[in-house]
This record gives sequence, C-alpha cells and structure tokens, in this order.
Amino acid sequence: MKLNTSKAAQFVAAEKVNNYAPAIAAAQKALEEGTCPGNDFLGWLHLPSEITPEFIAEINACAQVLRENCEAVVVAGIGGSYLGARAVLEALSDSFSWLKPSDNPRILFAGNNIGEDYLYELIGYLKGKKFGVINISKSGTTTETAITFRLLKKLCEDERGKDMAKKVIVAITDAKKGAARTTADKEGYQTFVIPDNVGGRFSVLTPVGLLPIAVAGFDIAQLVKGAQDMEKEAAIDVPFEQNPCAQYAAIRNALYAEGKKIEILVNFQPKLHYMNEWWKQLYGESEGKDKKGIFPAAVDFSTDLHSMGQWIQDGERTIFETVISVDKPNSTLQVPADEENLDGLNFLAGKRIDEVNHMAELGTQLAHVDGGVPNIRISIEKLDEYNLGQLIYFFEKACGISGLVLGVNPFNQPGVEAYKKNMFALLNKPGYEAESKAIQERLK
Ligand code: PA5
Repeated sequence: MKLNTSKAAQFVAAEKVNNYAPAIAAAQKALEEGTCPGNDFLGWLHLPSEITPEFIAEINACAQVLRENCEAVVVAGIGGSYLGARAVLEALSDSFSWLKPSDNPRILFAGNNIGEDYLYELIGYLKGKKFGVINISKSGTTTETAITFRLLKKLCEDERGKDMAKKVIVAITDAKKGAARTTADKEGYQTFVIPDNVGGRFSVLTPVGLLPIAVAGFDIAQLVKGAQDMEKEAAIDVPFEQNPCAQYAAIRNALYAEGKKIEILVNFQPKLHYMNEWWKQLYGESEGKDKKGIFPAAVDFSTDLHSMGQWIQDGERTIFETVISVDKPNSTLQVPADEENLDGLNFLAGKRIDEVNHMAELGTQLAHVDGGVPNIRISIEKLDEYNLGQLIYFFEKACGISGLVLGVNPFNQPGVEAYKKNMFALLNKPGYEAESKAIQERLK
C-alpha cells in the first residue's frame, strides 16, 4: 500500500502539515501507553500481531461446519458488527456470484435495518433452504439485530430442526453479558467472543469479520498477514515522514484546519463500495463529536461522476478527496474492435478496460485538483486478502491518531444512543414510561 499526498500538498503548506508531527507523536505514544481518552478500547492496536495460527484454525474449523451444512449463511449484525465483514466480502467476491452455482455458501446480511419488507423477503428466500446464522452483537441487545435473530432462530429451528439449528447457528458476542450470550449458552451454540477492549468499528479483525469471511471461502490468514505487516509499517518507531498513518492523519487534520470540512472517499472499483461504507463508520463515529470532525462522505467512480461529479468539480470548496486506487485488476478484458465503429470507439480497441478506468481516474484527479479539491491517493496492488488487511489496519491506526490529534475521544460513540432512547420511549419499552409521555407531547 502506498500513500501519495502530493496532489493535496498544493492546498496546504508543507510546514503546516509538518507542524502536526509533535501532536501525532504524542497521540501515538498515548495509544501505545494507553493514556489517551478511550484507553479501555485499545485492543485493536496490536490485534493483528496477537492473532495466532491456532486462533485462525479455530475460526476456519467453525467456518467449515457452516460451509458443509449450509447453502446460505445469514450474517446478522449492524454497524461495527456488520460493515467490516461486508466490505471485505464484497471486495473479494465475484460481482455476480449470487447468480452462479457455487461450493461456497451464499452470504446474506440482515440485522442491519428494520425494514419489514426486507425481512419478509429474506424469510421467503430462506424457506426450504439449508441455511445457517452468524449472530453478531457485542452488546447482545441491539434492536435491529435482536429482532432479526428472533425471526431467524425460529425459522432455522422450524425448517432444519433443533439439533441442526444448534450446529449452524453461531454467536459472536460478549464473553458474559447480553441477550445474545444468554441465548447462545442456553441453546448450546458455538460462540466467539468480541473482546471487551475492541469497539465495534475496530472489530473486523476479530471473529466479527473473520468468521463470515472464512465461511465465504476467503483466506483469513492472508488478511491478518496484511494487517500485521501494516502494523509494523505504521509502528510508533517509524519516523513521521515514512509512517503512512502519521502522514494521513497529519494531512487530513491540516486540510480540516484550512476549512476542508468534508472528506470524500473515492473508489474506481464497484467492489469497494462497502469499503467506503465501513470507512464512513470508522471515521464518522470516531471523529464526529464535541461539535467537530471531518464529515466522511463517499462515492463510487466513475458511476458517481455522472451524479456527484458536478458538485465535486464545482460546488462549495469545503471538500477533499481520498482515492483508493487499485493498481491491477484480477482478470483481463479488452475493448473489442468493431468493423462498423458506429460508436467511434475503435481508438480503444485492444486496450484493457482497466486502462480506460485508470485514465478516467487520472483525468478526474487532475480535473478535481484544477477545481480546487485536494486529492490524496492510497494505492494498493490488487484486491486480495493481503492488500485489504493492510488497508484495514492502515485506516484504523490513522483514525485513532487523527481523532486524538483533533482532540476527541475516538473510541466512544455517545451520540448513537439518542435515537435509541426516543425509539424505546415511543415503543413503550418498560422502564421508559416517563420519557414516553414527554416524547408523545413533543410529537404533537
Ligand atoms: O461501532 C459501534 O460500536 C457500533 O456501530 C456497534 O458496532 C453497533 O451499534 C452494533 O452494536 P452491537 O455489536 O452491540 O450489536
């Protein structure tokens, strides 16, 4: 993975970026020594190097049971208990795998919304299928996931019988507390623990991400290896100038100070759409607090050049872009020649599709820089487990540093509770009687 900030440098003086070096060194030290705000949630920091081959084997063994007994596996989870697995799976999977016969179980996602039609249609799809469930919830009490699991547990038991359900339902949750833990212990499901000191959005390299990725047939050892290598590359003793996480944290804070309040994560590969979603949660939930924080937005190019391109080129100049650039596709396809050339595209005949995409990428970069949009580029060699592991740890470490430099606690999310309180009051949840009356009044 390579970070290139040269096309952002013209928008902020090098001196201003370098001025962040002491704050970044202090943030790194605080992370290492566990002296920063949120220091009870630093389990992600050295997680990659702490993962053992035995642990990977344990996850793979559980995945194998699901693979042997299921044609579909529903991953139930939301936010940090969902997006990491989906990001990696979408990036690695054949875009049309759902249309093809496969030895791998089809992975479906649920528990991340409260759409009645979505759940009804999911149940319709699962009826008559050999399916399993991975129920992921750190708290074990998240409403979206819990409602979904209630439906899926019943369906699985009805369709496959209690004994098989016990075999193909796995819970990933807290070691001791929460409804997901209570149910798993009572029913005798296999369980994996989400460590207390790893917050949801930093949990993709725990069983939260690793198990679904392994069930889909991908190499989690390589994913972890990529993260381990990035852990070394971004270690505290790597100098500021060479440390990619320090550099990314510095430039984005420097741009923010110059009034660039919105960072747009850009990809040129549709398979990275959910990487964008994962990144948005990571940075949004970590930095958006105390009335500050860069707003993390995301686009898929070239698709969104035809929708958001105008705004980015020409709208309010409060944005900067961070592009994830993939050097090589995993397959080869050329633009065909056409005798009639009615579309006038024969000048592209014989060229790789990816060459066209890369020229779109370079052309866009220059156009946006000309339009006043600083451009940061993160290049990875290709979409595989190893490179994604690097990218994940890179973003996590840079996020921890960046949030501390901004002066917030990057590891809590107090703001997420506000909607839940109102929803429970509106649903007359026991214990919310006082709030129920008050909120009914406010809705009048
Ligand atoms: O990052 C976070 O903490 C959140 O996104 C949570 O992961 C999300 O709300 C799901 O919570 P839980 O795993 O407790 O069901």
